[in-house]
Amino acid sequence: MLLTFLPSISDMMTELSLNVLDIANNSISANASLIEISIKVDNNADTLSITIYDNGCGMTKEQLNKVTDPFYTTRTTRGVGLGIPFFRQEAIDTGGSFNIASELGEGTTIDAVFGLSHIDRMPLGDINSTIFTLVIMNPHIDFLYTYEVDDDKFQLDTREFKSILGDIPFDNPDVSTFIKSYLAKNKWEVDNHCQV
Ligand SMILES: Nc1ncnc2c1ncn2[C@@H]1O[C@H](COP(=O)(O)OP(=O)(O)OP(=O)(O)O)[C@@H](O)[C@H]1O
Ligand SMILES: [Mg+2]
Repeated sequence: MLLTFLPSISDMMTELSLNVLDIANNSISANASLIEISIKVDNNADTLSITIYDNGCGMTKEQLNKVTDPFYTTRTTRGVGLGIPFFRQEAIDTGGSFNIASELGEGTTIDAVFGLSHIDRMPLGDINSTIFTLVIMNPHIDFLYTYEVDDDKFQLDTREFKSILGDIPFDNPDVSTFIKSYLAKNKWEVDNHCQV
């Protein structure tokens, strides 16, 4: 049957960095003014942890209970919300864990832990492009990005960039080139010149 050969939507999500983009888009829809994204690789614990916090509108207890159900969504263009259920399932499938905490009017935190060496763990993929896109496309939102491998880490805090740049926007070609190379150079160093 033809349908058997069609990829499911979850098969098309091939990099964890795309999940991060999707989850951060929820934070943007929730009118967050601050989004914190943290990626942490712990080789001893054999985990890859992804945390996304926002100070957006948050959810009621009732919404929160429904949110891991793929048929729950407040979007009006289609009836199912897939971002959170996929992300959760991908973490659980690698022997990891998933937690979502939200407070109405306060914000939302999603914690996903993946088995680092589990055969079903998707690669992190191009996380630099995800962060770059979020930062450039949403200049009115503050981002704190932390990338950590064992004892090494670096951060990108757009509030620091803004205080140095003053009125110069992030999409200024010199600034965007700088942000891109800042992400690339620092990740390369924290990764100890090898890819997660
Ligand atoms: N950070 C958040 N703050 C407030 N509400 C959220 C947040 N993340 C998710 N939600 C709520 O949970 C619902 C489900 O989110 P989910 O990402 O699973 O699906 P979606 O965004 O509706 O659709 P899709 O991600 O498939 O495009 C959202 O419609 C929204 O109401
Ligand atoms: Mg979503």
